[in-house]
Amino acid sequence: MTTVNSEKLSSARFAEATDAFVEVFTASVDFDQRMAAQDIQGSIAHATMLAKVGILTETERDAIINGLNQVQQEILSGEFVWSIKQEDVHMNIEARLTDLIGIAGKKLHTGRSRNDQVATDIRLYLRHEISQILVQLVRLQTAILNLAEQHADTIMPGFTHLQVAQPITFGHHLMAWFEMLVRDKERLEDCCKRVNIMPLGAAALAGTSYPIDRFMTAELLGFSRPSANSLDSVSDRDFAIEFAAAASIIMMHLSRFSEELILWSSAQFDFIDMPDAFCTGSSIMPQKKNPDVPELVRGKSGRVTGHLVALLMLMKSQPLAYNKDNQEDKEPLFDTADTLINCLRAYADMVPHIRAKTANMYHSAKRGFATATDLADYLVRKGMAFRDAHEVVGLAVRLGLDTGRDLSDIPLAELQQFSGLITEEVFTYLTLEGSVAARKHIGGTAPETVKKAIAAARLGMTS
Ligand code: ARG
Repeated sequence: MTTVNSEKLSSARFAEATDAFVEVFTASVDFDQRMAAQDIQGSIAHATMLAKVGILTETERDAIINGLNQVQQEILSGEFVWSIKQEDVHMNIEARLTDLIGIAGKKLHTGRSRNDQVATDIRLYLRHEISQILVQLVRLQTAILNLAEQHADTIMPGFTHLQVAQPITFGHHLMAWFEMLVRDKERLEDCCKRVNIMPLGAAALAGTSYPIDRFMTAELLGFSRPSANSLDSVSDRDFAIEFAAAASIIMMHLSRFSEELILWSSAQFDFIDMPDAFCTGSSIMPQKKNPDVPELVRGKSGRVTGHLVALLMLMKSQPLAYNKDNQEDKEPLFDTADTLINCLRAYADMVPHIRAKTANMYHSAKRGFATATDLADYLVRKGMAFRDAHEVVGLAVRLGLDTGRDLSDIPLAELQQFSGLITEEVFTYLTLEGSVAARKHIGGTAPETVKKAIAAARLGMTS
């Protein structure tokens, strides 16, 4: 007689017990127990469907559902004992169910496999995470809109190459952040359409010979439809890769916001005051107030992009259908969702408390000859060729630099030495206010346009 390891999955097939290290090495229960609620939800729907089509009796179905609810309670209360011997979340729950209700528990796995079960669990889990992420993303959008509204008229320098380029309004700058988040939200919502398709019923890879009703299970679980091909359903994790890509783009955007907040809160820029509650001091330099939250978010963007690359590499070259490689999808996926939600939350909490130092922003715009383009445009409107106007303005800027004055502070007579086309009304264009007010077309920085953009954004968020 061959001795078999009675604990082992598919034990009759095996003559030897699993190597102790291999048992630990191949187990996923330490991390996939996070999907317990989804696993139970999927099993309840599966059992309900099996009873409907006559594969389980109603008594068996009820025993399974009651048993699973009890397992759920045990997990929530912390009494549940997770065992590495049962390898993963699916086997742990099924084993406990069988302890509780006996033979009916062993019938739950009829017409399915862990391959379609795990794919279903991940999709249910991700769908829930995306909904939570969207809540935080919308909170951040609202916070940005509120700050932009307070600063629709606040003038600051706009930069290219991090050199002062043209004056803009702070509200306009913030609305650029808002627009990035609009696209980020669309990407997540779009990704969710492909997440929300049900693999259950694909079984191990080829489907099942039982007369299952996949439409019923899909409806019970809130999926838009059952998947179309069983091999594809159990193997591809492209939906997770897509999510990680959307998450990486959001984190990339947050890293850009972070970089700006960090620069602006430095003594050299001094454009904003970061809320104390979101900063820490230095253990050795008493004067320091470090922008820790934006710095950490900037750092975490690398970590999320790393997870995207890990998932892509995990999937690359895998033959159909399920391979154990796919067990490696969970940790990067979970950490991507956790990191993203935490970063968005930190930002949504922090942004309402950012205080703009409007006088410093204004003076900085004035120091950088930000209205030089406006002077050139003025000369062009008066009939000068743009290249000549560029030259004239260059001379005026040189004079301003040599004498420590902004263009708007150079008297008319002195400006006229560069071109006779310049007259008194030039000063309406040379002021920072005149410069921003002139850019009032859609998408421009004029305060009135920014206010319209904010109003349109608010409308778009409620529709
Ligand atoms: N723990 C496995 C995973 O995460 C579940 C599926 C296992 N299927 C199998 N045939 N070994 O992918």
